[in-house]
Amino acid sequence: MNDAAPSPDRYTAVAKLLHWSIALMIVLQLIIGWTMPEVHRGTLPEGKIAWHLGIGSIIVLLVALRVIWRMTHAPLPAAGDSGWSHRLAQANHLLLYLLMIVVPVLGWANASARHWTVGVGWFELPAIMTAGAKIGPLVGDIHGWLAEVLAVLAGLHVLAGAYHHFVRRDGTLRRMW
Ligand code: HEM
Ligand code: HEM
Repeated sequence: MNDAAPSPDRYTAVAKLLHWSIALMIVLQLIIGWTMPEVHRGTLPEGKIAWHLGIGSIIVLLVALRVIWRMTHAPLPAAGDSGWSHRLAQANHLLLYLLMIVVPVLGWANASARHWTVGVGWFELPAIMTAGAKIGPLVGDIHGWLAEVLAVLAGLHVLAGAYHHFVRRDGTLRRMW
């Protein structure tokens, strides 16, 4: 007899809240990052750049919460796919988690190297790189490149979600909604 509890068919409210708030902020962050003025030596953190730093600090906080949440709560088992497509989805999720951590940390380090404060209102992150560090500009470049990789993988993830919803109609999207 199998007396294991049946797996729930939806993600919890906390998992959904973290997934969608972070997704929204990453999309905003990409739009702002790509349209804000080029950052050079002596550029001031104003306008869109200030927005990028403010939203960035909230992303750092939410991603930290999400990683803790994920380490203590397993994801739901595969809904509508198995074998290679499930492994591909898992691999993409792992990469998305890695980039969700690495991209913001590199941006934060670059901001610290520029002696910029990262935060919103009373919430302020500490500096994680010495102001004026030689490696700062390279860290900023890698931040921009990896943000593009993140955008591509998130795009594939959205296409996969649309495929599950509209073609396979297997409820995968609904359980994260
Ligand atoms: C997932 C979150 C993030 C995304 C998708 C993102 C995306 C971007 C993009 C697309 C650029 C423009 C790069 C270029 O034109 O070469 C950029 C630049 C920048 N971002 Fe982010 N960013 C994120 C998080 C952060 C965070 C958390 C911070 C700081 C706390 C930050 C600070 C910066 C800085 C300082 C630059 C200018 C880098 C430079 O040109 O030297 N970003 N970001
Ligand atoms: C930048 C945006 C996004 C990022 C970084 C992201 C990241 C992730 C990650 C890492 C997971 C795995 C959850 C886990 O195993 O703990 C996941 C699950 C999921 N995401 Fe996203 N996501 C984004 C946007 C979206 C969008 C726009 C959709 C809508 C099509 C979506 C639909 C889903 C669904 C349906 C799941 C659950 C998959 C399952 O049950 O196996 N995501 N997302």
